[in-house]
Amino acid sequence: MHRSIYIETYGCQMNFADTEIVNGILREQGYEIASDVEKADAVFLNTCAIRDNAEQRIYGRLSNLEHLKKRNPHLVFGILGCMAERLRSDLLEKNSAVDIVCGPDEYRRLPALIDDAFAGEKGIRTQLSRVETYDDIVPLRTDGISAWVAVMRGCDKFCTFCVVPFTRGRERSRPRAGVLREVEQLLEGGFREVTLLGQNVNSYRDEEHDFADLLVAVAALDPTLRVRFTTSHPQDMSDRLISAIAEHGNICSYIHLPFQSGSNRILELMNRTYTREHYLELVRKIRAAIPGVALSTDVIAGFPTETEEDHRATLSLMEEVRYDGAFMFKYSPRERTRAWKMGDDVPEEVKGRRLEEIIDLQRRISYDVNAQVIGTRQSILLEGPSKRSEEEWMGRTDTNKTVIVPRGDFAVGDTIDVEITSATSATLFGRLAGARAMEAA
Ligand code: 5AD
Ligand code: SF4
Repeated sequence: MHRSIYIETYGCQMNFADTEIVNGILREQGYEIASDVEKADAVFLNTCAIRDNAEQRIYGRLSNLEHLKKRNPHLVFGILGCMAERLRSDLLEKNSAVDIVCGPDEYRRLPALIDDAFAGEKGIRTQLSRVETYDDIVPLRTDGISAWVAVMRGCDKFCTFCVVPFTRGRERSRPRAGVLREVEQLLEGGFREVTLLGQNVNSYRDEEHDFADLLVAVAALDPTLRVRFTTSHPQDMSDRLISAIAEHGNICSYIHLPFQSGSNRILELMNRTYTREHYLELVRKIRAAIPGVALSTDVIAGFPTETEEDHRATLSLMEEVRYDGAFMFKYSPRERTRAWKMGDDVPEEVKGRRLEEIIDLQRRISYDVNAQVIGTRQSILLEGPSKRSEEEWMGRTDTNKTVIVPRGDFAVGDTIDVEITSATSATLFGRLAGARAMEAA
């Protein structure tokens, strides 16, 4: 009988892509993927360490799963991802239910670790690699139309608040040929959208090819394939990349461009390597080159030494740029980072209030930006039923906005033209604007 595994994934898209890689590795070894956690012989949490609240959530889940193990002592239980890399043997020592700790560059070792665990031996592998890209592994995907394709791993930027360079190691790119081969297979499998993924995709390099070349090559495989990418670091957003997006209809007009803080003093302390003025100039350049482009961002409230004036600079930058959307966080000190040593001197209630002001402002801006789309025609790719009703579809515009439309007789993967009829800060609502534009292969 084949053993079955179950992986629960937390955190960023890179972790979701890694789970598909792990499932690919284990399936190759004859494991089955269990449909629910209760039925699995081995259960893994693929974890996130970016902020303390992410880790606390995972600890909560870990104690839940200890009960499963009490009921079934043969169950093998493992921790993957960034917490495995950050905490290493602590996880084994402090959590008796944990059998396996395996970091992001060691997933090829998992079959051996699992065999040992079934034989009663606990195991830990947390070496980081300068070369591992899992280029030859075929990820096991479940979703049928939209795929994440990791093109690089790790990060060399060392923003002073960020634990990623320590949990995911140095930057390395996958060979271009491997990425193209994978996207070709996705096209054959009926996928209609790919998102090229990396902590900092803009620093992708394969010999003479940079990220702009890769993006154009992927887009050229099929002009009806939607091509997205994330995340971009402002420092590496080249003119060639901006032109590539502008010149290719199927490279989506949407850029996630984290700014983190609007204050030059804080940006410097964060080691972000750009100033507010550089960033705003970049935004002007992007908007001039790509009409209608959507921008989203990440922002941190309460970085060490942040004053009210610094905070107001963050709010004013957001008003100036008018992002379509934002991911907004309270600063969370992470061990080993440079900011850890700066202390955590902004009181919790001040951080909380600043974050609320940031969220309120962004909600108003998102609403205004979305309201301007009302009355326009948009081409949307249907991804599945809406959360609220089977009678509605959820789709996305080229600019990555969620649109809800009546179901009609369409199918997942269809691209349809809709007219936007109303909007909230998070969602657009539409109705059919004409005949079916294009059908899935
Ligand atoms: N505290 C708060 N937010 C953080 N991020 C990264 N590290 C931290 C931290 N220590 C945020 C940044 C980054 C996003 C992925 O998470 O905004 O862009
Ligand atoms: Fe972390 Fe900065 Fe690298 Fe992003 S660019 S993963 S925030 S170190």
